[in-house]
Amino acid sequence: MPIEWNEDLKVGVEEIDEQHRELFRRVNDLAEAMWDGKGKEESGKVMDFLGDYVVTHFATEERHMSSQGYPDYAAHKRLHDRFVEDFYTLRSQFDSGEVTSSMVIRILDETCEWLKSHIKGTDKKLGSFLNR
Ligand SMILES: [Fe+2]
Repeated sequence: MPIEWNEDLKVGVEEIDEQHRELFRRVNDLAEAMWDGKGKEESGKVMDFLGDYVVTHFATEERHMSSQGYPDYAAHKRLHDRFVEDFYTLRSQFDSGEVTSSMVIRILDETCEWLKSHIKGTDKKLGSFLNR
């Protein structure tokens, strides 16, 4: 699985970088749970574990943004909110059986691509603002 944090993704704020590393670990854990064909209940728990962390992490970035008067706060937050909304939709579709494990794995690939491009663009911009 090519789901890994690497130096290219560094935004230069230690708290945020550490959370990004953890985020990728949890995405990996979920992909593994899906691959291993873990039961629905257990896979659901791993999914919740990731979802909780996403919320925590976005809140951290938003705290940095609002405390420093970041000018692109609203646009950046909108991207976060959209992601969380999509994730919750996926979560409930998995629960109801509309989405299977193999579909989740495919969606996780897209999720990773989203995360990487979000970090490289939007989060790095925030990082350089915070380090200005
Ligand atoms: Fe972000």
